[in-house]
Amino acid sequence: MTTVTVPALARSRSELHDLRGTGPVVFVPTMGALHEGHASLLRIARERAGGEGTVVLSIFVNPLQFGPDEDLDRYPRTFDDDLAIAATEGVDVVFAPTVAEMYPDGVPHEGVATEAVTVQPGPLGDLFEGASRPGHFRGVLTVVAKLFGLVRPDVAIFGEKDYQQLALIRRMVSDLCLGIDIVGAATDREPDGLARSSRNRYLDAVQRQQAATLSRALRAAQERAAYGVPAARWAAMGVIKAEPGVELDYLALTTTGLGELPDYPEPGTEGRILVAARVGTTRLIDNLPLQF
Ligand code: PAF
Repeated sequence: MTTVTVPALARSRSELHDLRGTGPVVFVPTMGALHEGHASLLRIARERAGGEGTVVLSIFVNPLQFGPDEDLDRYPRTFDDDLAIAATEGVDVVFAPTVAEMYPDGVPHEGVATEAVTVQPGPLGDLFEGASRPGHFRGVLTVVAKLFGLVRPDVAIFGEKDYQQLALIRRMVSDLCLGIDIVGAATDREPDGLARSSRNRYLDAVQRQQAATLSRALRAAQERAAYGVPAARWAAMGVIKAEPGVELDYLALTTTGLGELPDYPEPGTEGRILVAARVGTTRLIDNLPLQF
């Protein structure tokens, strides 16, 4: 019989007292509404922490990374279910602060008078997701930096599903010399290929079918990558255009570091394809590796 230990719950900075045991602190930051994708991050964390280490899960819906017309108010909040998943996956500490606890002087939104220091992403923060969601990555990096300061992890685990976020967090850790080992975890998918996401629960049955178009388009590009960037892009666009329920925001073929690719990269070059689209009112993102 497996024993499930209830994790310690910290609601404030002061309750999150010194976690440091003899082993590493391994951290999984989330906005809650946990699903199987998060559970797979928690399993990686438990393995990295071993018996001696501490697995910390944070649950905080960060207002600073939502734009004024985005889904902050309707973002799913499923705290009791989240705690049950945390217990099953062997989490030691759940840190679930309030907004006032994380932003005691108020949320430092762009244009709001505040003396708070925030983390400004470099130019990579203005591309793709950053172009569609101005200020988003400033919000993400600021809260992740604060969480890192509070939890002081040795290792932090992030999903590759938010590929640009992962790249920017790696960059922040390197540029600000934070000394945290950032681990990227492969995207967890439904049987039809749809990337698991907390926002999938907004989709009705028809939209749920349409949403699977995104991963099909990415796979079509993967299959054509050996013929170059235009052929791969054409293949992905063909799949997307065949589904009128999907409203494309962007489709980008890039280097693994999100830089520009030549049309015909050297054979064997690795790249990435990223997509964002709206299905109904729900905005979904996905990405996959490419091999040219
Ligand atoms: O990926 C997420 O859930 C969030 O962007 C993160 C990293 C927890 C910051 O709020």
